[in-house]
Amino acid sequence: MRTFDVFLLVVMIYTYAAVNGNVYFHATKPTNEWWSNTIIYQVYIRSFKDSNNDGIGDLKGIIQKLDHFTDLGIETLWVGPFFKSPMDDMGYDVEDFYMIDPVFGTMDDFEELIFEMNKRNLKLIIDLIPNHSSYKCEWFEKSIKQEGKYKDYYIWRNASNQDEVTRNPSITPKPPNNWLSIFGGPAWTWNQQRNQFYFHQFVKEQPDFDFRNPDVKLQFLVSLFLKTRGKHEKRFGNDYIIKDFLKIY
Ligand SMILES: *[C@@H]1O[C@H](CO)[C@@H](O)[C@H](O)[C@H]1NC(C)=O
Ligand SMILES: *[C@@H]1O[C@H](CO)[C@@H](O)[C@H](O)[C@H]1NC(C)=O
Repeated sequence: MRTFDVFLLVVMIYTYAAVNGNVYFHATKPTNEWWSNTIIYQVYIRSFKDSNNDGIGDLKGIIQKLDHFTDLGIETLWVGPFFKSPMDDMGYDVEDFYMIDPVFGTMDDFEELIFEMNKRNLKLIIDLIPNHSSYKCEWFEKSIKQEGKYKDYYIWRNASNQDEVTRNPSITPKPPNNWLSIFGGPAWTWNQQRNQFYFHQFVKEQPDFDFRNPDVKLQFLVSLFLKTRGKHEKRFGNDYIIKDFLKIY
């Protein structure tokens, strides 16, 4: 039997499409990588197929329709984000990179999806944007408290009037610069507890990681899907590919 590949491919184009109504695709040189030639179907999980009648599509719903893709000649499914999330940005704001959001199903459903896709020779692209997390992510909470290695997981900066603010907390802190969020307003939000601003390219509930910090990169490599691999090495084979992720970042 063919081994199955889970690809942690970082799909940033999608967010740009949502924000600007445009898709920017910078194909600078021809490539023979599998993903440049495969036929992809984008499954927007929330509206695709609801298997339990709660009004929201789910992983089981995708499983029920897999034959539909093979009939169409689809080779790869790109599934929108399904990690645990408070949904401030439709699931792109991940609270827990190790968990499936209960609205979309369970880890068992995810494993069943992989198993059933494997049977049909379908590949899976997981839509993971590692740029940011939800403000509810444990890493952010630890970063606010400056706990150990989490201290510099996110982009923290002093106010431009930090000295005044430190002397007199009733003074309104001024952001370190004039950068704007793609969703409008300043890209910096003040955190009272840490007494610093944090950077967010999108909503303020979605703080950006500091990818200059090598620990952050490492943390991603031990995310949900590597964990799955540990548990089911034999069932899925050894072909998990993380290298596309490393190539991009
Ligand atoms: C993610 O970060 C990269 C590198 O800084 C940046 O080029 C890209 O615009 C960001 N994308 C999103 C969706 O935040
Ligand atoms: C930020 O402000 C604090 C005082 O609140 C100060 O101790 C620290 O040196 C400042 N950091 C930088 C990088 O300026």
